[in-house]
Amino acid sequence: MALQRTFSILKPDVTRRNLTGAVNAKIEAAGLRIVAQKRVHMSLAEAETFYGVHRARPFFGELTQMMSAAPVVVQVLEGDNAIARYRDVMGATNPANAVPGTIRKEFALSMGENSVHGSDAPETAAVEIAQFFAGNEIVG
Ligand code: CMP
Repeated sequence: MALQRTFSILKPDVTRRNLTGAVNAKIEAAGLRIVAQKRVHMSLAEAETFYGVHRARPFFGELTQMMSAAPVVVQVLEGDNAIARYRDVMGATNPANAVPGTIRKEFALSMGENSVHGSDAPETAAVEIAQFFAGNEIVG
C-alpha cells in the first residue's frame, strides 16, 4: 500500500484535558508519523468552512461553536494507508460504539466531544490539509 497522508484534528475536549500527548502516543503506536502539527484557535468562520459539508445537519451550529470555542491541534499524518488506518485508530464517531483500545473509546466524552477528526477520503484529505498547512510546513 502506498504512503498516504491524512488530516487530523485533536478537538477541544483533548486540549482542555491535557490529552494531546496521550492521543499522539496512540497515533504513533499505530504506525502513523506526525509530519505536521500546530495548535490553533479556529474562528467560527474557519470552523464553518471546515465542516461545510455538514451545513444542513441539525448539529452544525453546535459542532462549529464547539470547534471554535477553544484551541485544537491540527495535524498531517503520514503512513501506509493512512486514511483508513487513522479511522481505525480513532474508532466509531459515537464513542459508545467504539472498539476498545481506540482513541474515542478511551478518551471521547460524547458524539460531539469525540476527541478527534480524521479525513474520510483522499480528496477531502487534500482539501482539509490545504486549509491549515502550507506545503513547506509539512515535513515527511
Ligand atoms: P467528525 O469526524 O469531526 O466529523 C463531523 C462531526 O460532527 C463528528 O466528528 C462529530 O463530532 C459531529 N457529529 C456527528 N454526528 C453528530 C450528532 N448527531 N450530534 C452532534 N455532533 C455530531
